[in-house]
Formats: sequence, C-alpha cells, structure tokens
Amino acid sequence: MPAIIEAVDSPQAPADTPYARLGGAPTVARIVEAFYARVAADDVLRPLYPEDLEPGKQKLTWFFEQWLGGPTSYSDRFGHPRLRRRHFPFVIDERAAGRWLRLMREAWNEVGVPRELQDPVFERLAPLARHMVNATDDVPREPLGDAYLD
Ligand code: HEM
Repeated sequence: MPAIIEAVDSPQAPADTPYARLGGAPTVARIVEAFYARVAADDVLRPLYPEDLEPGKQKLTWFFEQWLGGPTSYSDRFGHPRLRRRHFPFVIDERAAGRWLRLMREAWNEVGVPRELQDPVFERLAPLARHMVNATDDVPREPLGDAYLD
C-alpha cells in the first residue's frame, strides 16, 4: 500500500502532516541514517555522543516520527520528550547547536526532501536546537538513560 494511503487509514497518522507529506517512516529513517553518518564523522559532535550510536539513532527516529505528526512512537516508550532536560548530560554550546542544525539540513537535502517541505520544519528545528544549549548552565549532568519521564 502506498505510504500516503496507509497514513490516511491510520488514526494516529492523519494525511495532512509533514510526516505524511514527506513519505512517512521510511523517509524519516533515511533522514536519521544520513544525519548519524555525518555525526559519526564530525569533529564537534562525535565526542558528545556515546560510543554506540545505534540506540540514539533509534530514539531520534521515533522522536521525529512523532514530532512530524506521525504515530506517538517516542512517547509510547519514554513518556514526555522533555528534550532540554534529556540533553543535560551532554554539554552543548552554540557551536554544537549550529553544527547539529547544519548536519541535519545536509541530511534532509541528501534524502531529497523538497525545500518547500523542509522550510517549515527547519523554522521549528532551529529554535529547538538553540534551546538545547546548556554549556554555561548549572544543570544536572547525570546520565538519564532510557528514563520514562512524565
Ligand atoms: C543542539 C544540538 C544537539 C546536540 C549536540 C544533541 C546531542 C545529543 C546527544 C549526544 C544525545 C544522546 C544520544 C544517545 O544517548 O545515544 C541526544 C539525544 C537525543 N536528541 Fe539530541 N542533540 C541536539 C539537538 C537535538 C534536537 C534539536 C532534537 C530534536 C529535534 C534532538 C533530539 C534528540 C532525541 C529525541 C534524543 C534521544 C533522547 C533520549 O530519549 O534519550 N536533539 N542528542
């Protein structure tokens, strides 16, 4: 069944969402793969990530499915995203946020998502990335792991 029809049939994934318009779960997976391939080779971001990139890749995939209007894949497993809180264990400065956004834009370009679909998404992603900056904040740095947060 074409992804767009499947999305219409699923009560969790209405058709008129960025998720449905860009092609649903397969496209999200390709975007996250392309992003993580860049993270793996990046001098600024790679040191921030754990040695095993796979669990985080899976989490970002679930998160994007949800955040783009698809099924609630992330919250079903981990509760409220609380993204700023979940990033406290990682010391994120402006440079890292800028690099994250750049690599994410490259990933969407590589996958070939049309610019008119990308633009509204990046209008939301840019402030979100800035919001993660915590390098000079006095925040708890203990690892949160797979915590379920309310
Ligand atoms: C601003 C720069 C950012 C940096 C440097 C960064 C870095 C990281 C790192 C190091 C992890 C841990 C990965 C792991 O445990 O394997 C992570 C997790 C995650 N990031 Fe980011 N991130 C940034 C921005 C964002 C943004 C803007 C989003 C959402 C659009 C996001 C979504 C996530 C999600 C969903 C997780 C998994 C959280 C969990 O359940 O543990 N990140 N990030």
